[in-house]
Amino acid sequence: MIYELRVRSFTGTRERSGDFRGLTRRLEYLKRLGADCLWLIPIHPSPLEDDGYDVADYCAVHPDYGTLEDFKAFLAEAHRLGLKVLMDLVLNHTSERHAWFEESRSSKEDPKRDWYVWRKDNTGYSGIGVIFRNKESDNWEWDPRTGEYYWHRFYKTQPDLNFENPEVVEATLDVADFWLGLGVDGFRLDAIHCLYEKEGTSCEHLPETHAYLKKLRRFVDGRHEGKVLLAETVGSTDKIRPYFSGGDECHMAFHFPLAAYLFYGLATEDAGAVRRCFEGFDPLPEDCAWGFMLRNHDDLAIKFLTEEERSVMKRAYAPKPGMVLNDGIRRRLSPLLGDDPSDVRLAHALILSLPGSPVLYYGDEIGMGEDLSLPDRFGLRTPMDWDEAERQERDPASLLSWLRKALSIRKAHPALVRGECRFLDPGNPKVLAFERSLGGRKILAFFNLGRSTERAGTGMTERVSVGDLWTGETRGLDPRVPLPPRSFSWFELPG
Ligand code: GLC
Repeated sequence: MIYELRVRSFTGTRERSGDFRGLTRRLEYLKRLGADCLWLIPIHPSPLEDDGYDVADYCAVHPDYGTLEDFKAFLAEAHRLGLKVLMDLVLNHTSERHAWFEESRSSKEDPKRDWYVWRKDNTGYSGIGVIFRNKESDNWEWDPRTGEYYWHRFYKTQPDLNFENPEVVEATLDVADFWLGLGVDGFRLDAIHCLYEKEGTSCEHLPETHAYLKKLRRFVDGRHEGKVLLAETVGSTDKIRPYFSGGDECHMAFHFPLAAYLFYGLATEDAGAVRRCFEGFDPLPEDCAWGFMLRNHDDLAIKFLTEEERSVMKRAYAPKPGMVLNDGIRRRLSPLLGDDPSDVRLAHALILSLPGSPVLYYGDEIGMGEDLSLPDRFGLRTPMDWDEAERQERDPASLLSWLRKALSIRKAHPALVRGECRFLDPGNPKVLAFERSLGGRKILAFFNLGRSTERAGTGMTERVSVGDLWTGETRGLDPRVPLPPRSFSWFELPG
């Protein structure tokens, strides 16, 4: 399991930022929970116009979080506990306060002028949508100093780097090398589909971007062993799948459609919504995996759903004004699901059993709430509630204790982690059923997305004896299994 966290919130309060020393002291908690890997959202010096996704210096740590030495001590302790660490690598853009941009905007003759995307007018790449429509109305920004416009896909304080310039490409490889050299285990590649621009295209997912990723992968593999590249590209599966290419680009990519369709399936009691996420796509290359996350630090992406599906989602999950932000729904997991323990557990169990790596957003293990009075996406990034985490660690009936158990069962059954996945037809549209198999071990998983008890066919004609992974007991399984509302079951079949 990959645990996503924001250093500022993890051990901080509303008044005081969390830091690497605090995080280091909390690593045992993450280990006890069952995390294998941490993903840190950006930790670099930044004016924080986009919570650190506006990097002002790639090779340093934001002073609020401590020093580079504190980071190294954190990394050493994480590794001692067997936790890997992924960092966010924000390549598409820098902060306008990055020295590269300050030089670039200083004059048209500056050697770094061409490190960013400058134009005399703002007519280029027309028709490219504005992502952060809550704050921006154009992807071009006028810069009075030199009388030209620069391109930005995100906030105007985040000018896009020009990847057509080979010096930029080299500089980004140097950044990767710096952190991997310190022992970081890999990167989440932020907004990776936006790297290149080309007239007459959508300026997303361009062949040049894939060529760059192949180069980055060769560079990383050539200089470091066992590192991971994880693509963040929001879109439909056909757009995301190419980031694995033939096993020579990213090792992982977030499966954004799964989260959207999982919630859609819960709202409509339609298990097919989840199953369809996996139909019609080539199996992933060896050593590649999907990253499944229910929620993260951004709004829940629903842009790639049909208009009708989007309205179902908004009705179900964004009933109040302010819950929709740009193209997404800004809610945390537990409130999104009405703080219903069965729904929350079912959603977690699904991403723990489908073929991929589960990604957990800090606080979602304790059902943390949201504060929608905060602007933009900050309502989802409030300080970790340690009192609640400690209370739940002591309570065997808590969500946290449940999740710890679920994660330990998953770890104890490699078929659930790496097994081949075969979807079954349970003869009931509200039930998702699949089999994960590895080395002769077979696990049968059922999920009832229905709000009533449902029966699911096992595909077998007679009663068989199975191991119930949750209770550890052996029991007889009828050819039609009864499943309580919003419940799941994991059974090990006899070998
Ligand atoms: C990614 C991040 C988001 C950020 C954006 C621009 O989508 O997840 O938080 O605002 O990129 O860097």
